[in-house]
Amino acid sequence: MKKVIAIYPGSFDPLTNGHLDLIQRGSKIFDELVVAILRNPEKDPLFSLGDRREMMEAMTERWKNVRVDTFEGLMVDYAVKVNATAVLRGIRAISDYEYELQMALMNRKLEPRLETVFMMPAETYSYLSSRLVREIAQLGGSIKGLVPESVEQRLQEKLDPSLRFQQSTETRRRKKS
Ligand code: PNS
Repeated sequence: MKKVIAIYPGSFDPLTNGHLDLIQRGSKIFDELVVAILRNPEKDPLFSLGDRREMMEAMTERWKNVRVDTFEGLMVDYAVKVNATAVLRGIRAISDYEYELQMALMNRKLEPRLETVFMMPAETYSYLSSRLVREIAQLGGSIKGLVPESVEQRLQEKLDPSLRFQQSTETRRRKKS
């Protein structure tokens, strides 16, 4: 039987527990799910493409039919390149609907063989977005429970580089003693 390959495209700057919730749901219904991280030269992301990929790979290792890749240019071109027939997108609230509908219909116009499949994340994550996570972290608020612990740590290091220095000094000190 034909394998159904889907892509889950996004910026993932940074990935959130809402993204992981959706990846888990997608991994159950598609034979293969490719998390496709956008390299967008116009945007100035908080995390480099390499960092975003590394974090996503570490957090999706547990699902054997999920792999991570990066892309640039038109999403539909990338989807065709990896033989995907579906695009997975999350809808959190009605407010997402208008933008997602427009994008899905435009993508259908560009590539009619590609179907967009919408899934809802757990309601706990219905108010969660990467943009809010970045803003809260930048303003010193708590993002506990919104992103994996390793991402939380990477965010703290990114926003306060002295933490990374302190941590590496601490690790060196522990190794010596
Ligand atoms: O996580 P995001 O930022 O909501 O993801 C948006 C994304 C990456 C899915 C969208 O911007 C995209 O597909 N960009 C690639 C360029 C493209 O194909 N544009 C036409 C969209 S109709």
